[in-house]
Amino acid sequence: MVRLGVLVSGSGTNLQSILDACAAGSIDARVAVVISNVSSAYALTRAQNAGVPTRVVSHKEYPDRDAFDAELVSVLKGYDVELVCLAGFMRILTPGFIRAFPGRIMNIHPALLPSFPGLDVRQAAIDHGVRFSGCTVHFVDEGVDTGPIIIQAVVPVYPDDTEESLRDRILKREHQIYPGAIQLYAQGRLSISGRRVLIQDHHHDEAACLINPSLDF
Ligand code: GAR
Repeated sequence: MVRLGVLVSGSGTNLQSILDACAAGSIDARVAVVISNVSSAYALTRAQNAGVPTRVVSHKEYPDRDAFDAELVSVLKGYDVELVCLAGFMRILTPGFIRAFPGRIMNIHPALLPSFPGLDVRQAAIDHGVRFSGCTVHFVDEGVDTGPIIIQAVVPVYPDDTEESLRDRILKREHQIYPGAIQLYAQGRLSISGRRVLIQDHHHDEAACLINPSLDF
């Protein structure tokens, strides 16, 4: 069982998908601790409902990012966490944090990286007029949303999409791919080679293709 530390700032639907996958036995992992930098985050209630220990570590109570991150590392190590999962955690981690868990930090991002890194990416995708967006689980490196990509899901973007409708379409897929990425890790099937993640015994679907708008005019 891989011991997970999940870092959150908000509603925690991704956390819920991970908790549910653990409870269902569909991933060989358990959530050892959930840490939020926001005390009102609903994610904390989700963790408590699942009987998982929670901690609030507010960035506002630390003099700088290094001190805040040092406390996060100390809590995670205290719970013997192997894999750190950022799930809607809205702080950028320092190099000191990244080095404390080399190759053992994952993040989920609501766009198809390397397109649309950073914030407000769903509206940016709509404004750009892309036909597809999606979500990405990646290992975290010292850049912002730049780390090696583990798994992505693609969703269509429609002309009448709002930020909310696109968010919901993407979130549904986030909840599938995050537990999937964790399970690949738990099975020891992931290795990092340069900026690529290699997956052992990976099945290819040569026919996979999406076209939007469809060609049946
Ligand atoms: C998710 O859409 C996640 O991809 C995004 O925040 C949302 C959190 O939702 N993360 C980022 O934007 C990170 N830069 P949740 O709290 O319901 O899981």
